[in-house]
Amino acid sequence: MVQVVGATTQQEVWVASRERKFIINEILLVEDQLRNSPRGEVIETYSFNRYIPLATETNGLIDEQVLAGLKAVGYSVDEEEINIAKLRIIGEISTPIGVGKQVRLPDFQEVEDLLVSNYPDYALTLGTIRGTGNLLDDLPGELSDTMCIYEQNAGIMPQDGVPFIFDYKSMNEYPHIGIFGGSGSGKSFGLRVFLEEFMKKRVPVVVLDPHWEMDFSTSFKGLPQERARDFSGEYKLFVVGVDVGVDFTDLKAAELVSLLGSGESLSEPMSNAVFTLHENKDSYTSFSSKLYGLITVMENESILNQDSAAIDNPREKEKIDYLSKLAAKYKDRVGHLSSLKGIAWRLNALEREGVFTAGTSPVEGAVMDGRLSVVRGPVKLLQVYGAYLLDRLYRNRRDYQDARQKGEPAKWFPPFVFVTDEAHNFSMKGERDSYSKRVIRGISQEGRKYGVILCMATQRPALLDDTVTAQLNTKIIFRTVRVTDINVIKEETDIGSEEARRLPYLNSGNAFLSSAITGRTIPIKIRCACTQSPHTQNPFEELEQVYFQQENQFWNIIKDKLPFSTNALHLVLGTISDELGKLIDHDQLIEQMNKLEEDGKVYAEKNPFGTTFHRSS
Ligand SMILES: Nc1ncnc2c1ncn2[C@@H]1O[C@H](COP(=O)(O)OP(=O)(O)O)[C@@H](O)[C@H]1O
Ligand SMILES: [Mg+2]
Repeated sequence: MVQVVGATTQQEVWVASRERKFIINEILLVEDQLRNSPRGEVIETYSFNRYIPLATETNGLIDEQVLAGLKAVGYSVDEEEINIAKLRIIGEISTPIGVGKQVRLPDFQEVEDLLVSNYPDYALTLGTIRGTGNLLDDLPGELSDTMCIYEQNAGIMPQDGVPFIFDYKSMNEYPHIGIFGGSGSGKSFGLRVFLEEFMKKRVPVVVLDPHWEMDFSTSFKGLPQERARDFSGEYKLFVVGVDVGVDFTDLKAAELVSLLGSGESLSEPMSNAVFTLHENKDSYTSFSSKLYGLITVMENESILNQDSAAIDNPREKEKIDYLSKLAAKYKDRVGHLSSLKGIAWRLNALEREGVFTAGTSPVEGAVMDGRLSVVRGPVKLLQVYGAYLLDRLYRNRRDYQDARQKGEPAKWFPPFVFVTDEAHNFSMKGERDSYSKRVIRGISQEGRKYGVILCMATQRPALLDDTVTAQLNTKIIFRTVRVTDINVIKEETDIGSEEARRLPYLNSGNAFLSSAITGRTIPIKIRCACTQSPHTQNPFEELEQVYFQQENQFWNIIKDKLPFSTNALHLVLGTISDELGKLIDHDQLIEQMNKLEEDGKVYAEKNPFGTTFHRSS
């Protein structure tokens, strides 16, 4: 029997039971017809017995009133085992619940409205709701057996509760997602699950992948065949500077300034110089010729003092004419030589990365096609390029929507989702302005109008630009240990102090989802992904595997050549090296043989002339 034994506030009551241990996050129903049988979530649990007594003065958790309540309903405090839980009532009730009211586990139908807002066919199946294991048998077919769960110690397990299904279409009203959590807490894993679900629904997504981990070609190890899914054809991998880049001819001067500014803003003089030099439709060559031409002139003024008519070499003459024209047109307006050199240096750096060799059209094509684009590159470059790319795609979408609004003909460009890890680098809190920060800020505030949604993951929410954080209507919070980050999370979400206290101890893959879409904080466990990164192998297991293979190979080669003696090694060294495909010398061979002896595969017979190795048994 479970009963109400006290109340802290109208929304929070204490319940107690002799037999039943409470499970964190489970939902219980209070039998109270007058108040429409309110339901509540278990947010704290305790067990007391005579060895951990309840009524000691050191126990500040349970107040006098609860003790009185326990006694009133017949508990002999200090003598029997008592399980106690704090129940947070969901939804409003007008008057406090009285002591003595019965509490029980609800049927699925009695809590369905709290747990399920949509079905897998129409929304994203991200995982399960924690504390709902006892509702499993009650679930309708559409919600049963929809996924696997992964436990680090136990491996792949069946669905362990009510599915958490994220109604992504509601992002139309409440856009943008934040994914917060310390290193190893499950962000990348969670992002992968999000991306898989978006692919299933054919939502165009662009993800920046600085860690080269977002590949979907490898099935999750051990996943049952019927859960596996082939994502080939649904995503494309692009490398910045190889498959995608900047179409220089399409650049506006302001964009070039932003690109050259890299992580920060370009200095005022450099920015002015770019605006002066750059003309619409400039190619990389035409722009850089102007730049280098002016640098030549400014470094060596005397070059223009020559009389070009007196120069014989026609190419030399042409060059002098070009430089004179350049100087006449720009020299007084571009500022200092040092600014031009700064620009040249930055332009060169981008050029060397191959940024100007390809354009954005491959990604635009994939977005149009409703596919996932994985964009890879060095972190620093990805930050600048990502901003440029996002800005482009966003503009395409805006141009389309704006034109349509005005009734003008326009080429369709779809709404899309933009995803990035390490989002704090992209949009850093503080004074410093950056290209990516401007773009992300703009979209966080206006993207909703155009159906452009951000999904920002970071291990340092405290470093993320406040303006952006405030616009993330859904936040998924994994294990977080740093106090500064926990404080930001407390401020920016509606998670309660009980949840905040649990944040440092969450297992990888467990999270609290706080969202305007769900209305209340929901404890979830992210499902097992269908795929895994090709390089998630434990590095130590990898070492073992490689060495094991090498030893095996060596054994296979050596075993037919036994027995041989150390004073006749020269007879076998050559063939062994040939078969191994690499040179092995006398000492290395002896070392390997000693290892085989330790393993019991060979035994060594010592004699006056050396050692002879024999095959064991
Ligand atoms: N949903 C999950 N279910 C089970 N294990 C998980 C889950 N998420 C993460 N893990 C485990 O934790 C490890 C680290 O997760 P990862 O997503 O790489 O962390 P992060 O990106 O936050 O640093 C994974 O390799 C996996 O073993
Ligand atoms: Mg990660």
